[in-house]
Amino acid sequence: MQKEGRLLSIGVSNFYPDRLTDLVLNNEVAPQVNQVETTPYFQQWESHECMEKYGVVHQAWGPFSEGMDNLFENPILLKIAEKYSKSTGQVILRWLYDRDISIACRSMKESRMKENMDIFDFELSKEEIEKIKELDRGESPWIDHNDPETVEEFMEEII
Ligand SMILES: NC(=O)c1ccc[n+]([C@@H]2O[C@H](COP(=O)([O-])OP(=O)(O)OC[C@H]3O[C@@H](n4cnc5c(N)ncnc54)[C@H](OP(=O)(O)O)[C@@H]3O)[C@@H](O)[C@H]2O)c1
Repeated sequence: MQKEGRLLSIGVSNFYPDRLTDLVLNNEVAPQVNQVETTPYFQQWESHECMEKYGVVHQAWGPFSEGMDNLFENPILLKIAEKYSKSTGQVILRWLYDRDISIACRSMKESRMKENMDIFDFELSKEEIEKIKELDRGESPWIDHNDPETVEEFMEEII
């Protein structure tokens, strides 16, 4: 459909390195974008490297982890936020932007939508990005896409 001009871009969700590699190597085109959970708690460095390798844009879903475990009050993020006179939410979004990660975040509040767009007048240093690595837990608190039971549950929902 893309060849025929009926699709502009192809996007997939939750393709981790093994599945993404399989998908890319066994098809004529690579997807343009892959949306995976990416937050300070689950930073996805390995996934990012794989997406970069195959020219797939990394898009973050759920970047705020719904504020779980006081993410917005985390001392590391708060210190950086104070330095740039920004909110911790803005620091999280800028941290993604500085890593060349596209962002899918959500807010029901107009003031927060504006706040979340206002991240283009500061930049995190390499040291700050390194410091934020301390928050990485290396797994999702919500879901394990590599667990066969998760795959079965998704299939039940689709069927
Ligand atoms: N592909 C997938 O498998 C997948 C899975 C889950 C989600 N998604 C997509 O990812 C997108 C976002 O997901 P999400 O809603 O789970 O996560 P999110 O954007 O990380 O979190 C949304 C929550 O954060 C709050 N919030 C937003 N901006 C804030 C700020 N600056 N400071 C403090 N709180 C803030 C919002 O509250 P207020 O509304 O009160 O501002 C809302 O409760 C959606 O488009 C969703 O469809 C994709």
